[in-house]
Amino acid sequence: MTQTVFITGTSTGIGAAAVRLFAAHGWQVAATMRNPADAKFSDLLGVRVYALDVTDAASVQQAVAQAEQDFGSLDVLVNNAGYGLVGPFETATAEQIQQQFATNVFGVFAVTQAALPTMRARQAGVIINITSVGGRTAFPMNSLYHATKFGLDGFSESLWYELAPFGIRVKVVAPGGVATDFAGRSLHMTADPAGAANPYAGQMRVVLAAFNRRGGAASQPEQIAEVIYQAATDGTTQLRYIAGADAQGILEAKAKMSEGNFMQMIQQNFAGNG
Ligand SMILES: NC(=O)c1ccc[n+]([C@@H]2O[C@H](COP(=O)([O-])OP(=O)(O)OC[C@H]3O[C@@H](n4cnc5c(N)ncnc54)[C@H](OP(=O)(O)O)[C@@H]3O)[C@@H](O)[C@H]2O)c1
Repeated sequence: MTQTVFITGTSTGIGAAAVRLFAAHGWQVAATMRNPADAKFSDLLGVRVYALDVTDAASVQQAVAQAEQDFGSLDVLVNNAGYGLVGPFETATAEQIQQQFATNVFGVFAVTQAALPTMRARQAGVIINITSVGGRTAFPMNSLYHATKFGLDGFSESLWYELAPFGIRVKVVAPGGVATDFAGRSLHMTADPAGAANPYAGQMRVVLAAFNRRGGAASQPEQIAEVIYQAATDGTTQLRYIAGADAQGILEAKAKMSEGNFMQMIQQNFAGNG
């Protein structure tokens, strides 16, 4: 029987690549996005586009209910929508912090709760949360983004146990750097790196330059989509999939090194010495 996947944040990047890959494999795809006019899937069979803002509870309920009605049931949910909030913690506004958690964390909770009742009733389903290498290790000047992705990682691990008795498998795909709109239009800053009154400006500029240098090692979104597809279809109970050579390299180093040595290495790398 044709399988159905429901994906959030599919206007660009990893979400859009995942839509194309699942469609190419003959899946029915519920491609959701804040603004359906951004959809670029008219060439694809089996793809339906739904309006969904993960921070808007009514739109979440509506999109999940409509997709379930249109496709019969959802076999796989991919919680992909998210963005980065970068810069000093001290200067983040309450609104920026709230928005970051509303999107990256509470949005995942809302979509997952909307999809669970029918998955549980059918005793089947795969839930894939797109976290980040930044959900397993931290870099400077990203404290709030890390808080959301570390949070999602722990949430997913606990949910894995809770949903296993119902035949629902929870998975985490943790990409390293990916060449998408993430570091462009999707990036939010808590302070101006050029701001004269910003006490963190110097540190910010050095860290942002280090991230730019690392950008050369970024994966393509199609490579991450392959890992999402593998997680959806490999039939295993594996929880985590680390996606991208950069992410694998850094997490292997972290596993081998003492915490002190690892953190010193990161500090040096982001001070411009690495
Ligand atoms: N790129 C990387 O280096 C990287 C690394 C690790 C993890 N990730 C994670 O990968 C996921 C996808 O990011 P990407 O790299 O593909 O970046 P992207 O090209 O900027 O895509 C982000 C997507 O999330 C959507 N989105 C943002 N806020 C939303 C909301 N409130 N409701 C619904 N959709 C919303 C955006 O929609 P709009 O078009 O409406 O803005 C866009 O479709 C994110 O969770 C990100 O944290 C990315």
